[in-house]
Amino acid sequence: MHYVDHGSGGAPACMQIAQGPLPVPAADEVLIRVAAAGINRPDILQRSGKYPPPADASPVMGLEVAGEIVAVGAAVTGWHVGDSVCALTPGGGYAEYCKTPATHCLPIPHGLSVVEAAALPETFFTVWANVFERARLQAGESLLIHGGSSGIGSTAIQLARAFGAGKVIVTCGDQAKIDYALALGAHVGINYKTQDFVAETRAATDGRGADVVLDMVGAPYFQHNLAACATEGRIAQIAFQHGAKAELNMQELMLRRLTWTGSTLRARPKAAKAAIAVALLQQVWPRFQTHPDALRPHIHAKFALNSIVEAHQMMEAGTHLGKVVLVMTG
Ligand SMILES: NC(=O)c1ccc[n+]([C@@H]2O[C@H](COP(=O)([O-])OP(=O)(O)OC[C@H]3O[C@@H](n4cnc5c(N)ncnc54)[C@H](OP(=O)(O)O)[C@@H]3O)[C@@H](O)[C@H]2O)c1
Repeated sequence: MHYVDHGSGGAPACMQIAQGPLPVPAADEVLIRVAAAGINRPDILQRSGKYPPPADASPVMGLEVAGEIVAVGAAVTGWHVGDSVCALTPGGGYAEYCKTPATHCLPIPHGLSVVEAAALPETFFTVWANVFERARLQAGESLLIHGGSSGIGSTAIQLARAFGAGKVIVTCGDQAKIDYALALGAHVGINYKTQDFVAETRAATDGRGADVVLDMVGAPYFQHNLAACATEGRIAQIAFQHGAKAELNMQELMLRRLTWTGSTLRARPKAAKAAIAVALLQQVWPRFQTHPDALRPHIHAKFALNSIVEAHQMMEAGTHLGKVVLVMTG
């Protein structure tokens, strides 16, 4: 099969198409003929050597795919050869074939193409686990999402709206990204380069602050996120693009009974990811049918496998709105 080899890593040009044997699924795994694979920012980090894959994962990039099951391990129940699925993968998605635990597969949601389905797993697993499970967003509550036009941000907007969030507030770096986030269902867009997101979040919530904050920026936003939170607010930390170390004013945390939590999906045990898949299947997948206009991944650009360099360059430039997807040709 063909796959993307990034060698010892580096700039996008380090990637080339290589040929190798088909992965062999273990007893609890399925082998998927990949129709499309989503590209996510963690792939950029992996390629540049800042996010090494877990020891037992494929060294090939790619955390999500959609396609057809072509082989099942001996212990797999519930999935069969010929089934169409989208799946979270431990790695290996930038390839014509990819193996993953059967429990990390989901059916292609009602009304979605296989390419759209490939853009779901990484952001849906992440947003569900952090915004809904860890930070416990409830209907009627307000959510502040940093990076509203990102793959993660656009999923967070859509899920928050589909689950009845009272007010969805986003930060973005320019007006076109704000307009995109508003079109997806955000109520308020804040330009983080020209506006004070703490003041704007408070203004948008009658002075209360946000019940939940989803942050991918890190250290420079830490104290500001505390200030932007409502009493009893929860902050979910999913990345630290601008720094991992910050000072904490514990008084603010205690006086307003705030919760700061976070997680990283790839490092979680198989069973934890399987539990998220079950929650998505039961609670989110039916909403693709009941909320077809609210829940639909936005594919900004599709690239063939042999255009992977251009795909990564686009994501690094940060000009995309929503998701970038690789479509297999061979
Ligand atoms: N913890 C986990 O399990 C997990 C899983 C998946 C992804 N992630 C992380 O989540 C983040 C998003 O991933 P993605 O694939 O959706 O990436 P992406 O589409 O490339 O998005 C990156 C986003 O970061 C925003 N950003 C950068 N600096 C900012 C600032 N100062 N203020 C507000 N927003 C800022 C960008 O906003 P502008 O373009 O408007 O500047 C952009 O929307 C990445 O950091 C990724 O590593 C974490």
